[in-house]
Amino acid sequence: MSKEIARRDFLKAAVAGAAGLAAMGALGPAAFAEEEKAPAFAGKPKFAEIGSVREVAEDVWYVGVSDRRIELFENVYPIPRGVAYNSYVILDEKTALIDTVDRSVTGQFFENLTAVLDGRPLDYLVVDHMEPDHSSAISEVLVRYPAAQVVCTKAAAVILNQFFDCDISDRVIYAEEGDTLRLGRHTLTFVHAPMVHWPEVMMSFDDLSGILFSADAFGSFGALNGNLFADEVDFKNDWLPDARRYYCNIVGKYGPQVQAVLAKAASVPIKMLCPTHGPVWREDLGWILEKYSLWSSYTPEEQAVMVVYGSVYGGTESAANAVAAMISQQGVSDVAVYDVSKTHVSELIGEAFRCSHIVLASITYNMGVFTPMKNFLLDLEAHNLQNRCFSLIENGSWSPAAGAKMMEILNRLTAAAYVGKPVTILSSPDEGDYIALRALAEEVAASVKEPPTVIAAEEESGTARWVCTLCGYVYEGESVPEDFKCPICGAGADKFEKE
Ligand code: FEO
Repeated sequence: MSKEIARRDFLKAAVAGAAGLAAMGALGPAAFAEEEKAPAFAGKPKFAEIGSVREVAEDVWYVGVSDRRIELFENVYPIPRGVAYNSYVILDEKTALIDTVDRSVTGQFFENLTAVLDGRPLDYLVVDHMEPDHSSAISEVLVRYPAAQVVCTKAAAVILNQFFDCDISDRVIYAEEGDTLRLGRHTLTFVHAPMVHWPEVMMSFDDLSGILFSADAFGSFGALNGNLFADEVDFKNDWLPDARRYYCNIVGKYGPQVQAVLAKAASVPIKMLCPTHGPVWREDLGWILEKYSLWSSYTPEEQAVMVVYGSVYGGTESAANAVAAMISQQGVSDVAVYDVSKTHVSELIGEAFRCSHIVLASITYNMGVFTPMKNFLLDLEAHNLQNRCFSLIENGSWSPAAGAKMMEILNRLTAAAYVGKPVTILSSPDEGDYIALRALAEEVAASVKEPPTVIAAEEESGTARWVCTLCGYVYEGESVPEDFKCPICGAGADKFEKE
């Protein structure tokens, strides 16, 4: 049952400021005294045209910032289009800031925030997600706005202190599942979303605007270019690959947890999705929700083929090009070829989530799989890819072994199926190999046109997946040991159900 944290915690506001300030160090209350002289709520802010500020809905403002200097997101993923760190303000009888930004863009962020608050105090900082790309400005927010209370999950408070040595115990409101926070006309309801993308994540639903502040969910790589809303850009052509790559690499492993949140969202009258990265969704929500449903259930987005090859002297590359052409000649138009050595693995992961069929062609290297190919396959396993059809081509000049080694990894994926007979090449493909590749291509094309029933790896291996009913963590094994504790939420074995 929903609880009114407004009632029990507004009382704390009067005493929240001083101790927090003392703990924060350099920036004292004097520097921001003007911001604490709260004028009465006077409608729209006066200087909202500053920076990247935009009105999202009535009383709701975008104060996030785009970063075009960053090369690698999480120091892993190339983002040539940059990234946006989204943050929002609700101006009501009380004011609320929803998440902050990465430390790289705090200058513009505080210009935006100051402009939108327009001299009003900040009453609440809602922390939906504690990862530092959204939380590294929190300490400064707490100093600048000493009366602001922090609304977050208990797990978020712990991690906040771990990262920033930031004790908020005297000004925190813990948001339990279903708690509400009344701001005036707007009331926020908090929905826990563990592992989307960290264990402390929650989402905030504003009943008046119908906005779901969705943390990382429905986000995308890519800086915003003046346009804020997905319907203001050509999302399907210009943004979808980066949205998919973002989802699959950042959250892809946690499909069951995303499914759990989608199930909760189905009962909420959402009119707008405000993620922490990328454009805001106010139209065609069903389209992006459907994408998330496919991605999080590991259902192929397209009946399509990706051919990935690892080649040193060109023989394997020739075979990959040939099989792709042969598949195309069989009437499959959606075929893409990737050199595993040249394509960032995050691109390959995104494509693997999109395509129904994956043809892997690898040389034998150190009696195993070519290293970049092995890394790709291990990344597929790490991201929990399921329900895919694989076809294999191996090359070896004296002792081909890559095929069997690739299968060792693929056999660990759930519901991996094989299409066609593996083709073995000795150094470079000869006439007989091309005949074998033609046969493989015909089987792949036929399978793409008429999807086969996949064989569940679970049935072959005897392992099963057990889902924590509290947080969605997945345990894999024949059964959950009696003394097992969920590493995320601490639930016992009795809380796990077979998927
Ligand atoms: Fe954008 Fe999980 O942080």
